[in-house]
Amino acid sequence: MSDISRVLISAEELDRITTRVAAEIDRDYKDVEGRIVLVCVLKGSIVFMGDLMKKLTVPVEIECVRISSYGSGTTSGGRINLLLDVDRADIGECNLIVVEDIIDSGLTLTFLVKHLIDKGAKSVRTVTLLDKPSRRKVDFKTDYVGKEIPDEFVIGYGLDYDERYRELPYVGILDPSVYS
Ligand code: PRP
Repeated sequence: MSDISRVLISAEELDRITTRVAAEIDRDYKDVEGRIVLVCVLKGSIVFMGDLMKKLTVPVEIECVRISSYGSGTTSGGRINLLLDVDRADIGECNLIVVEDIIDSGLTLTFLVKHLIDKGAKSVRTVTLLDKPSRRKVDFKTDYVGKEIPDEFVIGYGLDYDERYRELPYVGILDPSVYS
């Protein structure tokens, strides 16, 4: 716990957030035609997506994508590479919901949404657990948001610093002494 300055979002609040977001998605997708496919953006979104999908009542399928953006540490880089793609012949029947843990500059989702539309998806929407609107480099608005947060370095509930802290059941603020 000494690496963590403070808990920003407790496990109980995360539970309330995922319940609300799942209800919003249920409401919007209950009468949709075609398949509903959650797309997990590895690795950080694994925990959020696992909790979110358990709370949905609409039937969903899952896919995973992996993206690398160059740059490390506490800031996200600008160059984007797709390391794992959605690969299915029926993409034209798929209503994709891209699941992110956090939006920062907006570059990752801007790239990914365009890529999935270009591949022929029936529809593409996005959901993020955390949103840092103050960090945007491109104008990107997500369809479903768990919580807007200030520009702090957050870890836990899937989010890492140098691959650590993903297993924490809450979202915490990393003490600057860890990375400075
Ligand atoms: C994080 C996060 C998003 C992206 C958001 O991934 O999960 O994918 O950065 O940043 P952006 O809005 O500035 O593009 P990260 O590269 O840390 O990978 P990880 O999920 O594997 O930890």
